[in-house]
Amino acid sequence: MQPLHAPFPATRFRRTRASGALRDLVQENRLSVSDLIWPVFVCEGEDHEEPVPSMPGVVRRSVDRVVLAAQEAHVLGIPAICLFPYTPMEKRTSDCAEAWSPDNLSNRATRAIKAACPDLLVMTDVALDPYNIDGHDGFVVDGEIVNDATVEALVKQALSQAEAGADIIGPSDMMDGRIGAMRSALEAADHQNVSILSYSAKYASAFYGPFRDAVGASGALKGDKKTYQMNPGNTDEALRLVARDLTEGADMVMIKPGMPYLDMCRRIKDAFGVPTFAYQVSGEYAMIQAAAQNGWIDGEKAMVESLLGFRRAGCDGVLTYFAPAVARLLSD
Ligand code: PBG
Repeated sequence: MQPLHAPFPATRFRRTRASGALRDLVQENRLSVSDLIWPVFVCEGEDHEEPVPSMPGVVRRSVDRVVLAAQEAHVLGIPAICLFPYTPMEKRTSDCAEAWSPDNLSNRATRAIKAACPDLLVMTDVALDPYNIDGHDGFVVDGEIVNDATVEALVKQALSQAEAGADIIGPSDMMDGRIGAMRSALEAADHQNVSILSYSAKYASAFYGPFRDAVGASGALKGDKKTYQMNPGNTDEALRLVARDLTEGADMVMIKPGMPYLDMCRRIKDAFGVPTFAYQVSGEYAMIQAAAQNGWIDGEKAMVESLLGFRRAGCDGVLTYFAPAVARLLSD
């Protein structure tokens, strides 16, 4: 675009920055509570909460406490909560059967939330890692993470989540062919209105470390996830993945992690114009919190600025552990 402004002093860019009211008036992008999805960790027990040490301010909650958190989120105007289970170690197996048990933590939490707070959207995670003795998102056979057998298991997992009342299914596993398989299974089982928010462009990232602590997968994980998650050096591949997932029946797509991949948010939004989300992942949250706790940055301002960045990059919404904190701030 050619500069369409008169030379100085007719044009002074500082004029529209001179007061808060003017700055507000000309502001292009805004963060709103309705853009937030809040990821929460669920554990066994009753009336129980335990901190996640690598994510200051984040806790795992028993199902009854997750319901309280969900009610609080709803009152704050947060539209959706996303559940991640901390499966007891004795229920982690190489066949991952707990992943589609109707009574696993995620399904119990979904039913309890939908009973107490029907208008809050519940999003669930489809991947085997919280249930897998190997800590991988797929079945491991002779050291290989096998694709097609994993997809069959993921379909069972997604159906059990829909059955429990999940509104949004979030496949985070990065297997090929999973979106199409889940979509046709959901249609066949009368779950036409269950949305799929596909983790389409999910990179093999160092920023997931604290999350793996939170779901208890760090110790179990052997090797890395580079044969299924994307190479951080690639861009065009992300566009192909989004295109593929849309043609298989995804309603919404996600880029993950968030802050180091804002270029991909913008490219994907511009290329497809579909509902586009970013996941501000555990490591991004931990960095901001750690620096704030050391007094090195203003944590509240950094939180808001980091989230506004997603809106500027074209995202319609963000999954963020800051959701309740930022919602409280926005409502003041
Ligand atoms: C795994 C999964 C991961 C996250 C969400 N689902 C981690 C991984 O791929 O190892 C990461 C979220 C975060 O870091 O906050 N299915």
